[in-house]
Amino acid sequence: MYRRLLTSLVFAGLTVGTVAPAFAAEAQDTIDYRQRIMKTLDAQVAALGQILSGATPDDQVVSHLEVIALAAAQSAKSFEPKVEGGESLPVVWTKWDDFSAKMKDFEAKTRAAADTAKAQGKDAALSNILDALRCKDCHDVYRKKM
Ligand code: HEC
Repeated sequence: MYRRLLTSLVFAGLTVGTVAPAFAAEAQDTIDYRQRIMKTLDAQVAALGQILSGATPDDQVVSHLEVIALAAAQSAKSFEPKVEGGESLPVVWTKWDDFSAKMKDFEAKTRAAADTAKAQGKDAALSNILDALRCKDCHDVYRKKM
């Protein structure tokens, strides 16, 4: 089933990297996967930043917050395989309880922001959005300085 989807993606001209033809999760695939999800977060937060600065109309705030919440949940899952490398420091796995608590907190706060935006409108969600997006707090401890 996935193979058929993959074939369609290839025909659609999309880059699927090294995924085909083997589905075995090699170490580099695991690293690529979590980095792609982090890049999604980065792009969505940057788009939200444009809106907050007034550079872009604010009519898609709710969906940006929803995508961020979904990507936060994907991100939490993507670090479960213990594969060192990429920009991750080994402490991700040696201090796993703390790392996964930070991930869960990130997931819960971004989910709450998305739900608040849907239920009470974007202004209610944006008022304390920076508290949900503490990307740097985690990077300072768990990501290599580039
Ligand atoms: C709980 C920890 C944690 C949180 C929260 C977190 N990150 Fe990360 N992030 C990491 C780690 C660890 C890496 C290194 C991943 C790797 O290369 O193995 C990373 C890598 C990245 C990268 C580099 C990806 C690449 O292509 O190499 C970007 C960009 C990024 N994060 C953006 C964000 C943004 C934006 C947020 C907040 C909205 C965020 N991160 C929240 C832990 C976190």
